Formats: sequence, structure tokens, C-alpha cells
Amino acid sequence: MLIQTAKFAKSAASVKDCPTGNTPEYAFIGRSNVGKSSLINMLLQRNELARTSSTPGKTITMNYFLINEDWYIVDLPGYGYARRSKTLRSAWEKSLWQYLKSRENMVNLFLLIDSRVPPQESDLNFIEELAEAGIPFSIVYTKLDKLKVAEAEQNIKAFEAKLLETWEELPVSFQTSAVTKLGNTEMLKYINRLNKDWYQALQRKL
Ligand code: GTP
Ligand code: MG
Repeated sequence: MLIQTAKFAKSAASVKDCPTGNTPEYAFIGRSNVGKSSLINMLLQRNELARTSSTPGKTITMNYFLINEDWYIVDLPGYGYARRSKTLRSAWEKSLWQYLKSRENMVNLFLLIDSRVPPQESDLNFIEELAEAGIPFSIVYTKLDKLKVAEAEQNIKAFEAKLLETWEELPVSFQTSAVTKLGNTEMLKYINRLNKDWYQALQRKL
């Protein structure tokens, strides 16, 4: 898919501020610093559209980008690490789950996982919650340029092994690098296919 136009559309602090209408959207989530904003810029081939930073971001809004006047990318803030219990969620996490559970336009959630580290509890817990809530997601391994192929493979295999402890099948996954643009074609192809399905289903409803 060719990216013809990509522009910042709006920041939403909660679900009620999200755009109305039938435009499909793809949200990007993962621990802070995992590379969400960098990946978005890589996919869109725009250097500075989504803001990146080397210090964990303080963003607490969902940032919407309109692509080809046809679909949205939503850059979500990272989810928390040291959560003691489900009841001790930050206000942000509450709106996040409200968004994930209620937003019908969200076709797919891309969950970013840092390929440089072994499986992290916070990521595995997050996936478990996604599965419980029936939220469609795929996994995006990031920063593949930062380590040797064999090391990345080892971390990815370890993560998949963890997933297979509870899942029969692995979710769709992508290996990416914002530096080498690894994964660009595959992810855009995937989004393109889901967009087609979305608009076809919409036509049947109308
Ligand atoms: P928050 O918004 O703070 O949650 O972070 P984020 O997940 O959006 O991460 P961001 O894209 O800001 O990247 C964090 C840091 O990792 C920055 O210094 C990026 O330059 C670096 N980075 C992101 N992706 C890659 C990658 O694929 N390769 C390399 N080498 N560095 C990356
Ligand atoms: Mg970011």
C-alpha cells in the first residue's frame, strides 16, 4: 500500500473524544520506549509525525493520524509496569481498557514487544487480558537492528514458547526495525487487507 497522505488528526484523552464515523483504526501499544512512535513513522515514511523520545514519554492521550483519508493509526501511551493489582490501575489504564473494549472501529491492535529482552511479565499479563476481553491483536517485535539475528530469534522463540503455554495457536506477528524498515511491507499489506474486509462488511451493513 502506498502512503499518499498522513497527517495528525487529533488527540483524544478518553473514548468520548475519539473520532466519530466509520473509519477503521489500528492502535499501537507496548511498554514505554518499545518503539511505538518510531514504528509509526517508519510505516508512514514520515520522520517526525509521531513524536519519539529517548526518555519514556509522558503522553497520556491517544494520538490519531489519518492515512490516505481512509484509515487511522492511533499512537497509544505505554502501559504500566509495576501494577500491584487490577484495582490499583492508573486513570490512564482505565481509559485505555475502556478504549480497547468499546471502540468498534478498532480493527486491530498492534502490540509491540522489544526483541532485545527475554519475555517480560508485564507483556504476558497484558496479552492475557487482551485474550480475556476478546480484543483482536497481533504482535510486533521491535528493534531487530539492535541485535544479532540469532539473539533476536532466541528472544522471540522464548516469547512464543510462553504464549504457547496458554494458547493453542500463535497470533499473527511481525519482525520490525524502524532503522532498517524491516517489516514495513508486511505490516502495510496486512492493514490493507483488513481495511478491505472492514469496508466490505460496512457495505453489507448499510
Ligand atoms: P513512549 O511514547 O515513551 O512510550 O515510547 P515509544 O514506544 O513511542 O518509543 P519511541 O519510538 O519514542 O522510541 C524510543 C527510543 O528507541 C528512541 O530513542 C528511538 O530512537 C529508539 N528506537 C525505536 N525504534 C527503534 C528501532 O527499530 N531501532 C533502533 N535502533 N532504535 C529504535
Ligand atoms: Mg511514543
